Amino acid sequence: DILPPGPVDASVGKNVTLRTLLVDPEYTFIIWNFNDGREQSHVATVGPAGLKVNSPYLGRVSVDARSGALQLSALTTADNGDFSVSVVSAEGDTETAEIRLRVLEPVSGVTLSANLAEAVEHNSTVVLTCAAKGSFLNFTWLNGTTSVGEGTSQLTITGVLRTDLMRPISCSAANKLETEKSAPLSLPVHYGPDEVTITASDPSAFVRAGSDFNLTCATRSSPPAAVTWYQNQTLMDATGSVLPLRAVQQRPLWQQMSQYTCRAANSKTQRVVASRAVSFAVMEPVSGVQMSGPAEGAVLLAGNSSANLSCRAAAGPVSSRTWLKDGRPLAAPTDDNGRFECRLANPVSAEKAAYQMVVNFGPEAVSVSGETAVEVRDAVTLSCSAASVPPANFTWKFNGTLTDVKTSTYAIAQAVYKNTGAYMCQAHNAVTGKSAAYTHNLSVKGETPARPPASGAAAVCVCVCVCVCVCVCVCACVRACACTEVFIE
Ligand SMILES: *[C@@H]1O[C@H](CO)[C@@H](O)[C@H](O)[C@H]1NC(C)=O
Ligand SMILES: *[C@@H]1O[C@H](CO)[C@@H](O)[C@H](O)[C@H]1NC(C)=O
Ligand SMILES: *[C@@H]1O[C@H](CO)[C@@H](O)[C@H](O)[C@H]1NC(C)=O
Ligand SMILES: *[C@@H]1O[C@H](CO)[C@@H](O)[C@H](O)[C@H]1NC(C)=O
Ligand SMILES: *[C@@H]1O[C@H](CO)[C@@H](O)[C@H](O)[C@H]1NC(C)=O
Repeated sequence: DILPPGPVDASVGKNVTLRTLLVDPEYTFIIWNFNDGREQSHVATVGPAGLKVNSPYLGRVSVDARSGALQLSALTTADNGDFSVSVVSAEGDTETAEIRLRVLEPVSGVTLSANLAEAVEHNSTVVLTCAAKGSFLNFTWLNGTTSVGEGTSQLTITGVLRTDLMRPISCSAANKLETEKSAPLSLPVHYGPDEVTITASDPSAFVRAGSDFNLTCATRSSPPAAVTWYQNQTLMDATGSVLPLRAVQQRPLWQQMSQYTCRAANSKTQRVVASRAVSFAVMEPVSGVQMSGPAEGAVLLAGNSSANLSCRAAAGPVSSRTWLKDGRPLAAPTDDNGRFECRLANPVSAEKAAYQMVVNFGPEAVSVSGETAVEVRDAVTLSCSAASVPPANFTWKFNGTLTDVKTSTYAIAQAVYKNTGAYMCQAHNAVTGKSAAYTHNLSVKGETPARPPASGAAAVCVCVCVCVCVCVCVCACVRACACTEVFIE
């Protein structure tokens, strides 16, 4: 129990003091010896005659006479070994103890190297070696700032993963007294392509020619994968992760339903991965739709003429045709006059055209509306109508005699008796050359019906006779009375 437990560490070139546990010891001699593992040599002795230093240690050694501590300066690696101290008492008893001194070479030149310049995920075994000068070194491995190993100067990663060396790796070499870190090492780990996904900007089975449709191929890969494109397994003249529709339309079979795939290739991992297939056909939109029918100015007669209407598109395949008349689906034959429309469509577009059809017919269904019986001085308006294309011209006959009324209405401001009679409206179509008529009867009546002229004359006659008779009688009487009276006076 005269020396503390060792070892004692010190650096090359520095000083070290090997202390004892002695407190004011009584001794005759304190003797320090050194054993480098091969042989023992004397270092120094303190005795009644003072300090005596062995020649190899002259100038480097001193011993504290009070405690017996040994101070050694300008340490070299030759000082590595066991130092022993013996304390010899006056009675001749000797106590001996030993302590190990480790002279550490400073840590320097810490360098990190790898067996490969670049690695392939799953395939490569990466061996990292940390080299350093110095003694009693302990190595620590760091991935970024995370410790991934300790102890040895080599780190072996078999079947390396992309995540293993994501951050720069470094090593540090340390002894008891100091630590030095290597420069970080970045080692690329090539990987992929992983699963390859293909995406169409529009998932429809038919793609409109000239649209901004495209296909995109995506995968994870390092270095980035080279993408190639295939139409039905045939290599296309396009590279890059986006395939524009333009490139598809350069193919001879661009209008056919085809399967498109992409393949991603990694030159470093030498892996090639294909996507699933996307199927579509490129189609030109229907355009320049025109309807043709009888030429302008051609005269169509109902029930006699025939007309062909046809509808065609200048470009684009037509997969559906719809006919409309006056906005309704063309159904059972009705009146052929009207606006005919055709609609030509394919899965990517639709276009319409129209034709206005004029069929000449009539007049048909001529009729006159208006009063049938009025009184003298009443107004009369007779209206004549007829179904006719082009519109009919009208003439009127009264009791079989042509009048000069040439409009669809026949008006009488104030009726008189002699307006009673038959009014015939005649409609005439100048194009069809046909005519049709309708007769309307009107009767005009007086407000107070008068006596027939014959009975009236008889009444006047009777009246006159009666009056004459009465007058004659009255006159005779009056004359008689008057005479009497006069006679009495
Ligand atoms: C080491 O010892 C030498 C001589 O013994 C002395 O000159 C020097 O100052 C000491 N150095 C230190 C750092 O104590
Ligand atoms: C990776 O390993 C596989 C299977 O052992 C092998 O087929 C492939 O060629 C290797 N790749 C590289 C780039 O060495
Ligand atoms: C149809 O037209 C023909 C020749 O133009 C003519 O002879 C015939 O009378 C017409 N028929 C009718 C119903 O208009
Ligand atoms: C309509 O088309 C048919 C068949 O193509 C043809 O026989 C007929 O003469 C055409 N009629 C007219 C009025 O163009
Ligand atoms: C027209 O005919 C009706 C019936 O035949 C007749 O009563 C009337 O007097 C005729 N009117 C004229 C002005 O001829």
